[in-house]
Amino acid sequence: MISEKIAQLLNDQITKEQYAAQYYLSMSAWFFAQDLDGIANYFRVQSKEELMHADKMFNYLNDVGGEIIMGEISKPPHQFASHTEVFEKALEHEKTVTRSIFNIVKNANEEGDFATVSFLQWFINEQVEEEASASQLVTKIKMVHGNPSALYLFDQELGQRVFVADPVK
Ligand code: FEO
Repeated sequence: MISEKIAQLLNDQITKEQYAAQYYLSMSAWFFAQDLDGIANYFRVQSKEELMHADKMFNYLNDVGGEIIMGEISKPPHQFASHTEVFEKALEHEKTVTRSIFNIVKNANEEGDFATVSFLQWFINEQVEEEASASQLVTKIKMVHGNPSALYLFDQELGQRVFVADPVK
């Protein structure tokens, strides 16, 4: 049902989602090391979401009879120059993921693989939300820059985020 090319693109995307999980966990660790546990929590939850994205793709590939081949996950950066830089990198990364998903949709459309196009609609919508929230956080972290009281409140706010497991399919 699924071509080798689209299966390959989805396998690559699974690896990219897993890399994103590693990257966000690395950002989380960096904030934990600075006792900004709320921001660290935010990135830890984000990491779990990325693993859920990879799981969704894993299930889909299995459902459509694609061969699942786990890829190598490279080591993410673990040092950052500033609080702002971390949020900017997160936004940049989400934009990369969006482009990658669009590329799969484009290829699936060209092949007439409408099942994959339909499956990826969820990810297209998710990327709109992820880019919007990442962009908003860049604005907010810039606002609190140099103001410890504001940073404290921002940390508290991000500490409220909880991981909500989606039905995996
Ligand atoms: Fe799975 Fe944040 O994109």
